Amino acid sequence: MLPEVTATRYVTPLREGGSLPGIVEADDLGTYVMKFTGAGQGRKTLVAEVICGQLARRLGLRVPELVRIQLDPVIGRGEPDPEVQGLLKASGGLNLGMDFLPGALGFDPLAFETDAAEAGRVVWFDALTGNVDRSWRNPNLLVWHGELWLIDHGATMIWHHNWPTAAAAADKGYDASDHVLATFAPDLAAAAADLAPRITEELLTEVVSDVPEEWLADEPGFDGPEAVRRAYVTTLLRRAAVIGDRITLGERSQDKPSQAPEWVRVRLNRNTGKSAR
Ligand SMILES: Nc1ncnc2c1ncn2[C@@H]1O[C@H](COP(=O)(O)OP(=O)(O)O)[C@@H](O)[C@H]1O
Ligand SMILES: [Mg+2]
Repeated sequence: MLPEVTATRYVTPLREGGSLPGIVEADDLGTYVMKFTGAGQGRKTLVAEVICGQLARRLGLRVPELVRIQLDPVIGRGEPDPEVQGLLKASGGLNLGMDFLPGALGFDPLAFETDAAEAGRVVWFDALTGNVDRSWRNPNLLVWHGELWLIDHGATMIWHHNWPTAAAAADKGYDASDHVLATFAPDLAAAAADLAPRITEELLTEVVSDVPEEWLADEPGFDGPEAVRRAYVTTLLRRAAVIGDRITLGERSQDKPSQAPEWVRVRLNRNTGKSAR
């Protein structure tokens, strides 16, 4: 089970993405990015965060630690923004927290480097989980202490929004042409050879056991949370066996504009002699 903490202070909203996560402090003196059960995207987003985050970490990819966070909406009483107020009020009880990486920068493919091995592992993992949220426009990758960290796995496993299609979806290919790491010559063969054999029924069973039971309750067509957990295991197991050969990298685009803040680009260009774009 994920460790559980209680939120003690709502610090500030994060407005970069769509779901308005918030930075909170908790009673273990930790600072977390909190993803709310009351957010419009629904609790399946949080299920996806837990399964993908825990799986990625076990495969050796860097993902900030996840925790269960208990929220008493009263801690947001002084928050002036009605949107935040509404979110807190709708999210009393159990929510998801991710360890906050202070000072982390958003990954920019023109400002930072990664090697073919790491790019391959990330792209292969995103193909496995069907992640559509790692594009160069919105990479959902952070750079912290010089290393790449994976965040935001809410938009993965689209099949869990329509379980009867899951078996067919498991065999579907993955178009990585828009993936932010597609231009780093991802070594997909090496990634598949290393990672696919590690996706076992035992590993997946362990990973899905970290999803809080209440987020799996009342799923139509299932006889309780355990059956839903098994469906995630079956689908990912099947996908792990086939996805290696079904990833399309597409054409390399030379014209993707930098998303990095100006000061990063200026520093980069000074170091490499590249011209800014
Ligand atoms: N663990 C973290 N540490 C530091 N910053 C984070 C962390 N998680 C998210 N962020 C920042 O918050 C933004 C929004 O978080 P994200 O998980 O991508 O949510 P969403 O895109 O659904 O709103 C990210 O783009 C990133 O800038
Ligand atoms: Mg995001």
